Amino acid sequence: DKAGHKHFMAKEIAEQPRVLADAMAHYLRPEGGVVLPEPGIDFASIDRLTLVACGTAFYACNVAKYWFEQIARLPVEIDVASEFRYREPPVAPRSAALFVSQSGETADTLAALRYMQGKAETVLSVVNVTESSIARESDIALPILAGAEIGVASTKAFTCQLLVLGTLALEAARQRGTLGAEELARLEAGLRALPGLIHQGLTVEAECQRISRQLAEARDILFLGRGRMYPLALEGALKLKEISYIHAEAYASGELKHGPIALIDEHVPVVVIAPHDELFDKTVSNMQEVMARGGKVLLVTDAKGAEVAGEGVWEQIVLPEIDPFWAPVLYAVPAQMLAYHTAVSKGTDVDQPRNLAKSVTVE
Ligand code: F6R
Repeated sequence: DKAGHKHFMAKEIAEQPRVLADAMAHYLRPEGGVVLPEPGIDFASIDRLTLVACGTAFYACNVAKYWFEQIARLPVEIDVASEFRYREPPVAPRSAALFVSQSGETADTLAALRYMQGKAETVLSVVNVTESSIARESDIALPILAGAEIGVASTKAFTCQLLVLGTLALEAARQRGTLGAEELARLEAGLRALPGLIHQGLTVEAECQRISRQLAEARDILFLGRGRMYPLALEGALKLKEISYIHAEAYASGELKHGPIALIDEHVPVVVIAPHDELFDKTVSNMQEVMARGGKVLLVTDAKGAEVAGEGVWEQIVLPEIDPFWAPVLYAVPAQMLAYHTAVSKGTDVDQPRNLAKSVTVE
């Protein structure tokens, strides 16, 4: 049932405020603080966290690395499951491993999980399907509570994965004593604000639709992001290529001048995902490098960023102001909508893109 939407993907994008609120009600106590399933997770007894997944779930792990390292001062290793499993990495003592999978059945992720059984202190998973193999075989399975996701391109599962990973990062910071009480409370309040902000964020849809009609004409599109927004550039590019079949690539903004800038001309739109955060000025200079070469910049930012970035930008999408720490969750919305409307403009099969399956149970 598409609930009045043209595609499951559109329905699942629109559902995000509600499913995020459901997930939040499960993990956060109304009076404050995090609730985890028994027997809980002892973050103070580990020195390293390994995050493994595939595709969009892997990009959620990329964001989580920034979160855990910044506030819990916990070293995080991330890898795609297909590389991790055959690399057979040595496992340091006092390590925990966490596997992220919407379906819970992805063959490579399951194999990576089995490799870590008996080597890591704790094997955790973050899954949507709680009866899945990955959930069953982990010591603690954390549900994302996104509800069934039918569209092949993952949308609400991604933001719910981020919500659970963000909650874990907060809890890790509390247990490890790496943040003061005030800062913890401030970040928790920011987390609680997410469903409301995403609800507001959905109002950029008309803008996304209008701009997507122009993106649909492109042959190649570049996505740039910095810091915790770099994974969002990766996710935006993946979403776009999988459903619109337009070649899209993502780079960390600072990598631009180490190669990809050679691609820039007036035919290559460059999507810059950059809220006004502590790294914004650096991103503005990358944008100027693009514009100086005739490149068309689509800046996805907030009101302050739009004001500072000023002249010369081709198009802008302006999102509500948000604590930059949690911005990756909100900025997923325009990334999803740009892909969706570009695909609709091109007339591709949005919910069932060619060559792709919802659950990749063979390697
Ligand atoms: C992209 C997408 C895929 C999946 C990947 C992992 O939109 O949906 O990249 O994220 O195949 O699937 P799960 O999360 O089921 O392990």
